[in-house]
Amino acid sequence: MSEAPAPAQGTVSGFADGLGAFEYRNGRTEVTERNGLPCFTNEFWTSGQRKASRLHEVSYRACFKPQLPAFFIERLTRPGDAVYDPFMGRGTTPLQAALTGRRPVGCDINPLSAMLLAPRLAPPLLEEIAARLVEIPLSAPLPEEPLLGDLRVFFHDSVLARLAALRARFIERDRAGALDSVDEWLRMVCLNRLTGHSPGFFSVYTMPPNQAVAAGRQRLINAKRGQAPPPRDVDALILRKSRSLLSTGGPPPHPPALLGTAPAENAAFVADGSVDLTVTSPPFLDVVDYRTDNWLRCWFAGIDREAVPIAAHRTPEAWRAFVHASLRDIARTLRPGGFLAFEVGEVRGGKVLLEDHVVAAAGGLPLAVEGVMVNRQSFTKTANCWGVANNRKGTNTNRIVLMRKTHRPEPALH
Ligand SMILES: C[S@@+](CC[C@H](N)C(=O)[O-])C[C@H]1O[C@@H](n2cnc3c(N)ncnc32)[C@H](O)[C@@H]1O
Repeated sequence: MSEAPAPAQGTVSGFADGLGAFEYRNGRTEVTERNGLPCFTNEFWTSGQRKASRLHEVSYRACFKPQLPAFFIERLTRPGDAVYDPFMGRGTTPLQAALTGRRPVGCDINPLSAMLLAPRLAPPLLEEIAARLVEIPLSAPLPEEPLLGDLRVFFHDSVLARLAALRARFIERDRAGALDSVDEWLRMVCLNRLTGHSPGFFSVYTMPPNQAVAAGRQRLINAKRGQAPPPRDVDALILRKSRSLLSTGGPPPHPPALLGTAPAENAAFVADGSVDLTVTSPPFLDVVDYRTDNWLRCWFAGIDREAVPIAAHRTPEAWRAFVHASLRDIARTLRPGGFLAFEVGEVRGGKVLLEDHVVAAAGGLPLAVEGVMVNRQSFTKTANCWGVANNRKGTNTNRIVLMRKTHRPEPALH
């Protein structure tokens, strides 16, 4: 696909035609028209269809399933091509790119994202991980009040002492530029195991890790359940999660990763025309409060979350302006003919169809909108990270605007 020419304005590429002919167990794709654009609806991918690598199994709010980027990577790129996500979150797109021999390129405004992804692109051996845990002092002094009071709502003092020792090592080594791949792996696993709803996490029972809660809310949960944080064997839990993540193996040889912490509107570290395919999903209006969600992870990683200007737009108009700025930079990084799959969801009970705003936001940019794909899927646990389970806030379908880089700006469609 890499050598396919950019389509003339207004034409539908072979890929979009292929979507129309796509068949899966629910049958042929339904092709309708909306605002002059083809809309392709089918169950294009499911989690059951093919098992994804276990390396993906790091929770993150509003993450998408690996099958989503895999669908586009397999069809639109070849090994060695560069695959980019400017809003990478836990890094599902760049990790899937690496797992299929492509060049992973990723950006997020939150430094947490690169911390979660980088170690999984070149994982250490289990023996190295175990040996490093033995080297790190068992405990360090507990943090001071008032933070200590909030942390004690989640963690037993013995757990906190171990976490303090691990945290101190990672922060000190990071500042000294001396963090190696084993430390990075340990930090990633700790970030992943901090809080959750089973004894596999360091905390007392709380919300699943992709729905981390504030200390005040956790106090209420503890009171209601009559619970207090139990002691946990932090090192054993780290090893158990490492073993599970590594159980399907690491990525094959692939071109070196390019990861950065920057706003998607200006990811200057990604060169002009260097990307073959972008698969991404921006924050949807103000549906997910990433800042509140990630407070404990930011504490552990030594990130000042107040200093991270995460996007949260209250009105569709403000969101559209943000998407336009992001699309402009994505178009800059794409090579002519390169594809963009821009995933959005249904928000506000389906009253706001974000794909319409995305199509409008692409106006005046060198991006031809080829159509909208709707993946109608049977829901699984991962889908709950979209807020599907309660269906109050969030999304209940994957809706993807498919675009292709052209040589000149395209007129606005609507
Ligand atoms: C819907 S999530 C992406 C999840 C990702 N697809 C995954 O599978 O993990 C949106 C991400 O956008 C990030 N973000 C918010 N504002 C941003 C901005 N202006 N530039 C880059 N990233 C931003 C958030 O930190 C969050 O990680």
